[in-house]
Amino acid sequence: MSTSKTPTSGAWSGRFSEPVSELVKRYTASIPFDYRLAEFDIQGSLAHAAMLHHVGVLSKDDLDAIRRGMAELLADIRANRFVWSLDKEDVHLNIEAALTAKIGDAGKRLHTGRSRNDQVATDIRLYLRDAIDRILVGIKACQTALVDLAEQHADTVMPGFTHLQVAQPVTFGHHLLAYFEMLARDAERMLDCRRRVNRLPLGAAALAGTSYPIDRQFVADQLGFEAVCENSLDAVSDRDFAIEFSAAAALVMTHLSRLSEELILWMSPRFGFIDLADRFCTGSSIMPQKKNPDVPELVRGKTGRINGHLVALLTLMKGQPLAYNKDNQEDKEPLFDTVDTLVDTLTLYADMLTGVTVKPDAMRAAVLQGFATATDLADYLVKKGVPFRDAHEIVARAVRAAEAAGRDLADLPLAELQAFSPAISDDVYAVLTPEGSLAARGHFGGTAPKQVRAAIARARKRL
Ligand code: ARG
Repeated sequence: MSTSKTPTSGAWSGRFSEPVSELVKRYTASIPFDYRLAEFDIQGSLAHAAMLHHVGVLSKDDLDAIRRGMAELLADIRANRFVWSLDKEDVHLNIEAALTAKIGDAGKRLHTGRSRNDQVATDIRLYLRDAIDRILVGIKACQTALVDLAEQHADTVMPGFTHLQVAQPVTFGHHLLAYFEMLARDAERMLDCRRRVNRLPLGAAALAGTSYPIDRQFVADQLGFEAVCENSLDAVSDRDFAIEFSAAAALVMTHLSRLSEELILWMSPRFGFIDLADRFCTGSSIMPQKKNPDVPELVRGKTGRINGHLVALLTLMKGQPLAYNKDNQEDKEPLFDTVDTLVDTLTLYADMLTGVTVKPDAMRAAVLQGFATATDLADYLVKKGVPFRDAHEIVARAVRAAEAAGRDLADLPLAELQAFSPAISDDVYAVLTPEGSLAARGHFGGTAPKQVRAAIARARKRL
């Protein structure tokens, strides 16, 4: 039983002669946010206790008491009955104190051979591993929605853009599959990062390891870690795994932000390529006609927050000497917000993609307005023996004339086209249509409908 008279935190009150102010307590506490680690903290503690018993440091009775107490605490936490206390500073001390209140001395023995430093590093890794698994499910749902939509539009012509100017015809399906590829790499990055997250810091104790005959592999096996962190100083102090997760998350958001920007543009009446289901839009309090693409706009906006968290974590780490420093407590809020935002974004996005109405006529009309087949005409001339640079020049002049006449290249009569080059004959019209242009790009990775269908088949296999 503690004999301390000071009102400071019970875990170290013996060392201090005066209590901290309310502000210091609030400033240094992490319980307002790290209570979210509770389930992982309990998992880690149970594995640690089982190991202590396994190596003969903790009695069977104590282990049983700890298991029973933790089961009750877990039930309280899940039922929202657990009262978190600022006086107990963080999730680790809160749970330990509540356990001790329930089971007495066995609770006080739990922290043998352990420090909050290796404890918190373990908790975050367990939390992140779980988060990555949820994120992977979300990425897959978005990829599936993209492939489904692409399949419906393997033949739908739209303008492909460079510099946001009409460039060449593409199929809408091909355009959507570009995002499938981005998300596929995002999933690879998450999986790769997961391997480095999934290592056990516990056993490093405060920084130098512990004098008890611990079995770290035993704990790793209990918790499903693939490996044990090899250096105790590194194990408690580095958060590079969180930083790389954060970078991978920022890339997922960045990809979805790009798609959002396109959805927003396409939904504008100036494009009129798509409509978004009402459930992802809101109106205006003043303009009765408005339907605003709020969800994609917020995805774009929230990407800024997630990128900011990455910079915050990098900056948090850069000045820290070995080993643990309290700075690391600041890793949690950016991480939690990154995970929450990304999981919500992916969940919404998969649903939003099923609520996209495509307007193929508007897409086709836009292709016909932008001289999108000019490159095809140049390629046609090359196939008739004209050097590419000359062909480029000939077509540029034809485009200028067509533009002045307010017509598309395909609308110019043969005689007019032949004035630009005698190499042109009446088979030219086949290459001047968007469909001709698409079909010509029939190689692997190209936009021809048959290649898009092949890509969809491959994508389905990869999912
Ligand atoms: N709440 C702390 C954190 O999040 C736990 C570790 C505290 N360790 C310490 N020696 N103060 O990092």
